[in-house]
Amino acid sequence: STILVLHGPNLNMLGTREPEVYGHETLADIDDRLRNEAAEQGHHLLHLQSNAEYELIERVHEARSEGVDFIIINPAAFTHTSVALRDAMLASGIPFIEVHLSNVHAREPFRQHSYFSDIAVGVICGLGSQGYDLALKAALQRIH
Ligand code: DQA
Repeated sequence: STILVLHGPNLNMLGTREPEVYGHETLADIDDRLRNEAAEQGHHLLHLQSNAEYELIERVHEARSEGVDFIIINPAAFTHTSVALRDAMLASGIPFIEVHLSNVHAREPFRQHSYFSDIAVGVICGLGSQGYDLALKAALQRIH
């Protein structure tokens, strides 16, 4: 099966961006690890990071025709703003897990609302990059 990992705005800065909040690993470190883990289990993992809302939306549209089975998404700041990306997820009908590196509930009040959580299979936050590994494990279990 095919898993798509989507990363929203500013996550390309991981490693140097507020490392006390987001950790020292780069996005490439995380994507490589996830791709290897999926491949070891005989699955195909695709990923995209974008700072542009429309690119993420169009990637979700494509995912539907491509037959992507599951999406892991960290919408980053779009979590708190994007009705459009939410609607794209709904339109795709592809099950997804929402991941955040930081514990959004322990931060500013505006981070405590998500346009995705109520339509996600599950939500993981506050566990750093391990959240992606746990999401992948859960996704693969659900696909089987
Ligand atoms: C984030 C949390 C968001 O509030 C923030 O805008 C991000 C990253 C996280 O992974 O902790 O860019 O999604």
